[in-house]
Amino acid sequence: MNENYKNEQILTTADDIPAEEPKRQYYFIEKLKETVKAKSESLGRPLTCKVVTFGCQMNARDSEKLRGILELVGYEPAQSEEADFVLYNTCTVRENANLKVYGHLGYLNGIKKNNPEMVIALCGCMMQEPEVIEKLKKSYRFVDLIFGTHNIYKFAELLYLALTSDRMILDIWKDTDKIVEDLPAKRTYSFKSGVNIMFGCNNFCSYCIVPYVRGRERSRRPEDILEEIRRLCGDGVLEVMLLGQNVNSYGKTLEHPLSFAGLLRQAEEIPGLSRIRFMTSHPKDLSDELIQTMKASKKICRHLHLPLQSGSSRILKQMNRRYTKEQYLSLVEKLREAIPDLSLTTDIIVGFPGETEEDFQETMDVVRLAQYDTAFTFIYSKRTGTPAAAMENQVPDEVVKDRFSRLLSLVQEIGRQRTGRFQGQTLPVLAESVNEQDPSLLTGRLEQNIVVHFPGTPDLIGKILPVYLKECRGFYYLGERSPEKIYES
Ligand code: SAH
Ligand code: SF4
Ligand code: F3S
Repeated sequence: MNENYKNEQILTTADDIPAEEPKRQYYFIEKLKETVKAKSESLGRPLTCKVVTFGCQMNARDSEKLRGILELVGYEPAQSEEADFVLYNTCTVRENANLKVYGHLGYLNGIKKNNPEMVIALCGCMMQEPEVIEKLKKSYRFVDLIFGTHNIYKFAELLYLALTSDRMILDIWKDTDKIVEDLPAKRTYSFKSGVNIMFGCNNFCSYCIVPYVRGRERSRRPEDILEEIRRLCGDGVLEVMLLGQNVNSYGKTLEHPLSFAGLLRQAEEIPGLSRIRFMTSHPKDLSDELIQTMKASKKICRHLHLPLQSGSSRILKQMNRRYTKEQYLSLVEKLREAIPDLSLTTDIIVGFPGETEEDFQETMDVVRLAQYDTAFTFIYSKRTGTPAAAMENQVPDEVVKDRFSRLLSLVQEIGRQRTGRFQGQTLPVLAESVNEQDPSLLTGRLEQNIVVHFPGTPDLIGKILPVYLKECRGFYYLGERSPEKIYES
């Protein structure tokens, strides 16, 4: 159980509770079904739930697993946070992600005053920070259940405890080497899905809190990953996004090591699968084998997210990124040569401690040379406990803001020029949704992850269609369905 904090509620240890996972969780799923049924009968209406995700694709996938359990035990999904069970799956990568959660909690407390039955739960990365837990215990007593990233697989058990107790249930683990397979998930999209291939991170970039809140890197067994993809494809999924903080180091912790490229080649064989994406690639571990595998593949999308963070070799060293500006640029060159239609995207941090105007100009230089389709730009945020937080030469806010806006203009200018390069071509588009502004249009994506809007009806959602890219409007295209046949995998 919890080593880091004393649990406020001790688990019952009845003899009939299975010890091994996932059996134990299925036991609690059955108990929950009874509890939820009894509660909804006494209220004379179904119980509703809402899971809100903050943060990255990992959290989004975790939320699908949490929803899977909630729906299995009888909760109905609610449109808003006015629900009987509300769970915030939190992020703490930057301070504003963290502040957002406190803001939302105040709002939830207001809703709870009108619905005393309401259960409020928090999980995710922010809960792995001891200061956060102290603050919640002191000032947010209306929260009913708090758990972290390492014991998320125990959600059914923890929810059962929360529903059958009127005390705050708190269960946070410091770390784990455990991976629990075969728990349910409720996908957001019927035709695409994230698939975790690894958890945690061992890189300790000096600004980043993720290794502290997600624990050490561990890879799922290839047979479990491939089986999950096969099952998803059997259920209508065409596109998978393989998820990990550093997918390029996949497989190192396995009993029988396998490279990421090796895993991709096996995934390629799965019938029914049309598109394979992955995130995130650390430049220091991107192998020639991966480039060749992408080049030879018919299913791996022509898109690579390759976080730069900074273009200055001096700052990169301080960031503990373990590559230089020159190494990064030669990697880009190699990728462009091998895969000419590749779309390249990145993450950049502005204002890392000690960053000078010269360092910043090095970043601008890489942006010009690498020609990114999109770059996510972030203002450096000090995260307690990371080495960079203790660095003395933090950059003043006004200087950072000025650099940030100059970087953003450059990134947008290049992004706009780059996006237009497919104009006039007919390319496969996966139709993903009805356009939010104009319901006569569908919104989909090219392999390169570029958005395309085109006339179409909702029955086409989830299909890969040939679309003529008529007009580029900055970062997206307006297109028209081409009369050719539907693409098959
Ligand atoms: N594992 C991924 C990134 C995960 S976090 C990788 O290595 O690329 C997503 C992005 O958030 C990072 O790429 C980085 O650009 C940004 N980020 C992380 N910590 C940050 C911090 N303290 N301040 C600002 N941005 C940060
Ligand atoms: Fe953070 Fe670096 Fe790990 Fe990415 S690779 S999650 S930036 S420590
Ligand atoms: Fe945030 Fe955790 Fe992802 S800190 S970015 S949700 S791994």
